[in-house]
Amino acid sequence: MSVATVISDWSAPNQERARTLLEAYPERRSAAMPLLYLASLEHGHLTPAAMAQVAELTGLTSAQVQSVASFYTMYKRDHVGRYLISVCTSISCFLMGADDVLEAIEEETGTPDGTTSSDGTFSVEHVECIGACGGAPAVQVNYELVEGVAPERGATLCRWLRESSPEVVVTDEMQKYFGGVRSFDWGITETVGAIAPVPAFGPYGSTGEESA
Ligand code: FES
Repeated sequence: MSVATVISDWSAPNQERARTLLEAYPERRSAAMPLLYLASLEHGHLTPAAMAQVAELTGLTSAQVQSVASFYTMYKRDHVGRYLISVCTSISCFLMGADDVLEAIEEETGTPDGTTSSDGTFSVEHVECIGACGGAPAVQVNYELVEGVAPERGATLCRWLRESSPEVVVTDEMQKYFGGVRSFDWGITETVGAIAPVPAFGPYGSTGEESA
């Protein structure tokens, strides 16, 4: 069955992206993980039907695809809010007050850890180390990193998201207004960020440019 037939309910750009991803790998099954992100972008989360489509595209069984999707926490199998707030609570962040950051974010958004707000604006989760221990406590919004987030600034960040409703969230912009000490400050300034609660990568179509 052709790619277009299997994912005929996907948008035309995402069908094209799926074709490109499948062609990028000598083994079709190697495209399973990026295709799962693409399916998440298409449907807002991984539906059983989307996982079955990925299985058909890659030649894997549904059980194999579901095993991958359920092993990695960045694949969401339930509805996710527009802004996914991930608060690291592993040891470095914990020692720097991550529990207070999480509590402030839960209170500001009215969204307990592990849930999505009733209006669909926020999902809040605590996560294991996100590789920014030098900038603890660290938070991500749609996988865009903000370091050195004090509790009150975490709450202000969520207020800004609710009130400004940015189409694109960009690490450097959020860091500038809501962050503190960073792991390092010599990186190239980024104006490209995430448009959805899916990692921001060009092949997934999940990136956008910060509006000046
Ligand atoms: S412990 Fe939080 S980023 Fe490593």
